[in-house]
Amino acid sequence: MKFNIQSQVQKFSTNRVLVTIALATLVAVGGACKKSQTSAMNAASDVIRVGEVGSMTGQEATFGISTHQGIELAFKQINAAGGVKGKKLELISLDDQGKPEEAATATTKLITQNGITALLGEVASSRSLAMAPIAQNSKVPMITPSSTNPKVTEQGDYIFRVCFIDPFQGTVMAKFARENLKFSKIAILRDVKNDYSVGLANYFSETFKKMGGEIVVDQSYSAGDIDFKSQLTSIRAKKPEGIFVPGYYTEVGLIARQAHDLGVTAPLLGGDGWDSPKLTEIGGTAINGSYFSNHYTPEDKSPQVQSFIAKYKEAYGSIADGEAAMGYDAALILADAMNRAKSLEGADLRDAIAATKNYQAVTGKITIDQNRNAVKSAVVIKVDGGQLKYQTTINP
Ligand code: PHE
Repeated sequence: MKFNIQSQVQKFSTNRVLVTIALATLVAVGGACKKSQTSAMNAASDVIRVGEVGSMTGQEATFGISTHQGIELAFKQINAAGGVKGKKLELISLDDQGKPEEAATATTKLITQNGITALLGEVASSRSLAMAPIAQNSKVPMITPSSTNPKVTEQGDYIFRVCFIDPFQGTVMAKFARENLKFSKIAILRDVKNDYSVGLANYFSETFKKMGGEIVVDQSYSAGDIDFKSQLTSIRAKKPEGIFVPGYYTEVGLIARQAHDLGVTAPLLGGDGWDSPKLTEIGGTAINGSYFSNHYTPEDKSPQVQSFIAKYKEAYGSIADGEAAMGYDAALILADAMNRAKSLEGADLRDAIAATKNYQAVTGKITIDQNRNAVKSAVVIKVDGGQLKYQTTINP
């Protein structure tokens, strides 16, 4: 066994370099015993190492950066108040560039080399799905702040989330389209390379049809595409009253622009994957009049939300988006569970996270159910004049 002093510097965006230093990172020589050696070392040290995997760069960089900032803010507050079980929390963050393979590699590295006690991430369901089996096999509890596809927590009893799941989110937007907007004809445009998008499109469609609505056309694209004109032309021919696009903000922004160019006036509808300061930047005025479901709204006047927003603004100079709030909540839930856990061994920490009940977080009261999911309400947001405006809250 030998020790190595290693420092990691990750470039999170062109203008911001965040530095995470993992002191005395253990480099184990043998393969099989890596995990136990690193956790033994972790138990003996005066810090608790927590890993984070996120898309700090790439097409979905705002997901990773916002989540990271939310987690970092929570850790700073927890450490300032004395830490957890008398130890300081240390965050080791790795960038997966928005790629599932990189998310898997980063997870393995955090577990085998950094000796993490727990793992936070990812935002995107497809990337959480790449990470979860690794965390599960190593018995390292993982909490995803905002991956909503049901399959994520089905990977095993060490995998948790602090957000609602897509069968609910799909119902939220189907109800909103049918009851509030009174739509009966909807087109779907889904990202077939994205587990979240495919799932959410299905859940939406199921509920919308059950409520007497019709899906007039179901089109698809692949993450990274930049030309959506042929799909939008087919959609235009069917004259839908709305187009459900459960994708991520970069493609949604481009789709809004191209739909507008083709003379499509039906509003776009979507889910939490739209939540980014870049949505209105990329979509321009073409995205105005569209709606999406989300986990939280900064317009919420509750003291929890307003005090979080003030502290976040002071630290980062911007209004916290949904991912920032979810990252913050995931970090708080983890620290709360660590405090309650008998020990920080995987099984004890897992049991403590599973026992989370009525924890008053920024994005709502969090109880972890028997499937390791959180049951929470959702909000519907309208993009209006380049602003995100709260419309309504829908309860489970
Ligand atoms: N829920 C999305 C997914 O599972 C990720 C996401 C959450 C994106 C919150 C933006 C905001 O893939």
